[in-house]
Amino acid sequence: MVLNNKLGIDNQAELSREEERLSKIKAKDLFESGKIDTIEVGTFKGLSEIHAYLFGEIYDFAGEIRDVNIAKGDFQFAPRIYLEQSLIYIDKLPQDTFDEIIDKYADMNVAHPFREGNGRSTRIWLDCMLKQKLGKIVDWNKSDKDEYLSAMIRSLVSTGELKYLIQNALTDDLSKESLFKGIDASYYYEGYTEFKTEDL
Ligand SMILES: Nc1ncnc2c1ncn2[C@@H]1O[C@H](COP(=O)(O)OP(=O)(O)OP(=O)(O)O)[C@@H](O)[C@H]1O
Ligand SMILES: [Mg+2]
Repeated sequence: MVLNNKLGIDNQAELSREEERLSKIKAKDLFESGKIDTIEVGTFKGLSEIHAYLFGEIYDFAGEIRDVNIAKGDFQFAPRIYLEQSLIYIDKLPQDTFDEIIDKYADMNVAHPFREGNGRSTRIWLDCMLKQKLGKIVDWNKSDKDEYLSAMIRSLVSTGELKYLIQNALTDDLSKESLFKGIDASYYYEGYTEFKTEDL
């Protein structure tokens, strides 16, 4: 069944395509307009703004806490009933060092606050923390998709692998070209490969 959407699309392939196209246009605009620099760094409020910006034209639930439980593989993300509590806890976690930032990112992944689009929006949220503290962002092209996913699954137990992987993918190239290529790779992780952000 296709997610209820504002576009009136009831075909999964078409929805995926439009979701990719429209949200990449918005991702591009998020950076080009400078809006990204007004977003609160490292809080659910900030993440929610990113999510709302990316998906607001597509889903009613953009920026809103999900109202269902969700699972991936055999892992169930934070149970709906504990989600608000969990987000308040994550907001307060420190984000002063690289290790703290990655731990915070892993915790936000466990929360998985939205019905859809968690991976893509949370990686932009992660970049905001890294940029603020270290003047660097992640170039997702430098990390292998399967290794990334396995490090994320492993992060439920230990974040060591994820730290190693992200440390090696950091870049101080904050140019738009570099950013947009990173966004394309982040979308590729989730199976979206039709459009190049740069070209939209
Ligand atoms: N089994 C898992 N255990 C832990 N983390 C996972 C697992 N599966 C996926 N993730 C993490 O969640 C991210 C998004 O995955 P998922 O498809 O569940 O979310 P989504 O809401 O559909 O987000 P998007 O639409 O951006 O893909 C992945 O990139 C990865 O970081
Ligand atoms: Mg998805």
